Amino acid sequence: MTFKIDVVTLFPEMVETVIRHGVVRRAAEKGLVELGLWNPREYTEDRHNTVDDRPYGGGPGMVMKYKPLRDAVKDAKAAAHDAHVVYLSPQGRKLDQEGVKELSAKKGLILIAGRYEGVDERFIESEIDEEWSLGDYVISGGELAAMVVIDAVVRMFPGALGDAESAEQDSFMQGLLDCPHYTRPEEIDGMRVPDVLLGGNHQSIDEWRLKQALGRTWIRRPDLIKPEELDTKSKQLLQDYLSENNS
Ligand SMILES: C[S@@+](CC[C@H](N)C(=O)[O-])C[C@H]1O[C@@H](n2cnc3c(N)ncnc32)[C@H](O)[C@@H]1O
Repeated sequence: MTFKIDVVTLFPEMVETVIRHGVVRRAAEKGLVELGLWNPREYTEDRHNTVDDRPYGGGPGMVMKYKPLRDAVKDAKAAAHDAHVVYLSPQGRKLDQEGVKELSAKKGLILIAGRYEGVDERFIESEIDEEWSLGDYVISGGELAAMVVIDAVVRMFPGALGDAESAEQDSFMQGLLDCPHYTRPEEIDGMRVPDVLLGGNHQSIDEWRLKQALGRTWIRRPDLIKPEELDTKSKQLLQDYLSENNS
């Protein structure tokens, strides 16, 4: 079934590029995802197509007006089935792989990209199911955030990736960072590919990869590993990694 993602944005031509390349493009060609774009500017009635106005109470910047957003979302909702409405905002829940899995399990998504100082709070109160953030920093508009969500969500769909296994191996999918990867040539600038990867013993390769993933995660993102939750084999592999790397 096609997963519908609608984006409400003042810059539809920017968001549209996400579906023109790579994994997302192939997924769209296979009918796994369909992108709809809704521009609040087309829901204005004045001669200047005004979508923003000064904030009540004064202060810098402009605020996106309620009505063009509400009307754009209304049409997006009518064109979708039971879609989950998300406002991309630095004040939302921080996006991680768990969040991506949750979003990909919805029936469809309507993503709202803000601009300026943000949107009229009454629009959030009345139309938004959830707010999601890329992280603790501010970007100029929600379009890039919407594109990140689209790309990450589409990768989760069965059949979206050429090799079904590669999503499973990605960082965070198993609660660990990914292992290092190498491709030809075997040696360059004096650096060799680890012998185990050239040996063709798949059990040893899997073990080496798990050891690297455990070791990397332990060193780079210790918050992701709870030693007491590791099974005996993983504990041993992590020990081996740490002694091999003098850590
Ligand atoms: C300049 S920002 C407004 C920030 C707002 N004044 C605040 O501090 O919460 C304009 C738009 O960019 C988007 N945006 C900015 N930072 C974001 C982030 N970390 N994650 C997701 N969207 C973000 C939101 O859609 C926001 O409405």
